[in-house]
Amino acid sequence: MKIDLITDSVKLNNGVQMPWLGFGTFQSPPGQVAEDSVLWALQAGYRHIDTAQMYGNERAVGEGVRASGQRSEVMVTTKIQPQQLAPHELERSVKESLAQLRLDVIDLLLIHWPNPRVPLSETLGAMAKMKREGYTRAIGVSNFTVALLDEANKVTSEPLVCNQVECHPYLDQDKVLAACRRLGMAMVAYSPIARGQAKADELLARVGHAHGKTAAQVCLRWLTQQGIVVIPRTAKIERLEENLNILDFDLSDAEMTEIAGLARRGGRIVDWTWSPKWD
Ligand SMILES: NC(=O)c1ccc[n+]([C@@H]2O[C@H](COP(=O)([O-])OP(=O)(O)OC[C@H]3O[C@@H](n4cnc5c(N)ncnc54)[C@H](OP(=O)(O)O)[C@@H]3O)[C@@H](O)[C@H]2O)c1
Repeated sequence: MKIDLITDSVKLNNGVQMPWLGFGTFQSPPGQVAEDSVLWALQAGYRHIDTAQMYGNERAVGEGVRASGQRSEVMVTTKIQPQQLAPHELERSVKESLAQLRLDVIDLLLIHWPNPRVPLSETLGAMAKMKREGYTRAIGVSNFTVALLDEANKVTSEPLVCNQVECHPYLDQDKVLAACRRLGMAMVAYSPIARGQAKADELLARVGHAHGKTAAQVCLRWLTQQGIVVIPRTAKIERLEENLNILDFDLSDAEMTEIAGLARRGGRIVDWTWSPKWD
């Protein structure tokens, strides 16, 4: 399935379309493996690639995008590390990302993780400047709580298009989703198949059986059906297609509710010493 950029995408608050399906590259080893997986993803129909300075694979991602010959159609997201959020550091590191990617412009630049030691107004001021000067087309955040989203939206001079957060059926993110909607931001789900946990889930498999879909596909559909963008990662070429083919069926209200019931304490997978106090 090719993603139709008009109907299979969400319009961001800066007018840009973001596909419902993106391709994650965390733990894609730098070098040929990451480059090939990006190329295969673009050949399969993905039009959004998610990377980060922290992943160490921006160079390979850029190579994959260029090798596809489809740069103009592809949204490339990268993220600034929390220790680079002071304006001077940020500017230097965005230029470094562009040099690594070997692209003229980043499509979407995110704060990877909040850093309470750097005032948000300074970081967002620097990101807005990078946008005005043409280094990035859009800016946004990742791993932001409701309080941080409110604070960020108060001080930014440019629209924050999205909040990229961990999101899957085992983690209740309703508060963050409501805040994103209230603030006109897209919510982008990382680890959307719970790092592969969803594939062995009996409930998701049973629902999938009724629709002729796999448990992973049901998991991704549950998210997109709530208006959440997903960026699953796979190193397996056959799963690229599987993860793309999720927009041609609908879950019933009863199925949506049943899947939401999988949320549990301790469902969060990605947590660090530098994590904010989660909602
Ligand atoms: N902003 C942040 O702080 C942050 C944090 C984490 C991740 N991310 C982004 O989000 C992306 C996705 O998250 P993630 O990589 O953590 O987790 P994920 O996409 O939920 O899960 C990836 C795992 O699921 C397996 N998998 C993929 N498709 C499958 C399928 N159809 N059936 C069964 N298993 C499947 C993969 O194994 P195979 O390779 O064997 O298929 C891999 O082990 C990352 O790559 C990264 O770009 C962002």
